[in-house]
Amino acid sequence: MIPDLGKRWLPALGVTVGVGILVAVLALWHPPGLYLWLKALHVIAVMAWLAGMLYLPRLFVYHCTATPGSVQSETFKIMERRLLLAIINPAMAASWVLGLWLAWDSAAYRAGWFQTKFVLAIGLSGLHGMLARYTRDFACDRNQHSQKFYRIINEVPTILMIAIVILAVVKPFE
Ligand code: HEM
Repeated sequence: MIPDLGKRWLPALGVTVGVGILVAVLALWHPPGLYLWLKALHVIAVMAWLAGMLYLPRLFVYHCTATPGSVQSETFKIMERRLLLAIINPAMAASWVLGLWLAWDSAAYRAGWFQTKFVLAIGLSGLHGMLARYTRDFACDRNQHSQKFYRIINEVPTILMIAIVILAVVKPFE
């Protein structure tokens, strides 16, 4: 089955534009408590992003055992595609838009903890791109990797998440 590349980024693009407009309007208006509300939305978006990033490689581990063309394999394809397009992509877009606004509003971009977190968030986004590519490979029955590979990949978002949350909450250095 050939994936529909033309519409792949529409949900994430819609969320980026929607959240961007919302943040721009709120930033101009700047009602009291705005920072904390947008931080809460950022944490919600990040939770959805990470939930998907932890689940998708797990699906790949099970998908490896399914025979291409079988009902099971086709079901995994639908689950992977929906998880990526409906949850992971839009959640990543919202995390970035809100996170960058928080960094700009609080001037966190000057702090060492934020700069380190920023680099790790770019790493997480790169991993996101890799998972999107593996989803496309599975959709075309062209998976190149073993179960063991996906089990190892499954640990990477966990490690990045732990480091990023410690940096954001503890702020161990300025
Ligand atoms: C995508 C790029 C990201 C940017 C630009 C960004 C930026 C920020 C900024 C500036 C804050 C406000 C810190 C404060 O007010 O003290 C924040 C809060 C937070 N971020 Fe992010 N973030 C990003 C991704 C993530 C990710 C991937 C995670 C989790 C894995 C995460 C978890 C958190 C948490 C838990 C807080 C709340 C910290 C607190 O108030 O104690 N962020 N983020």
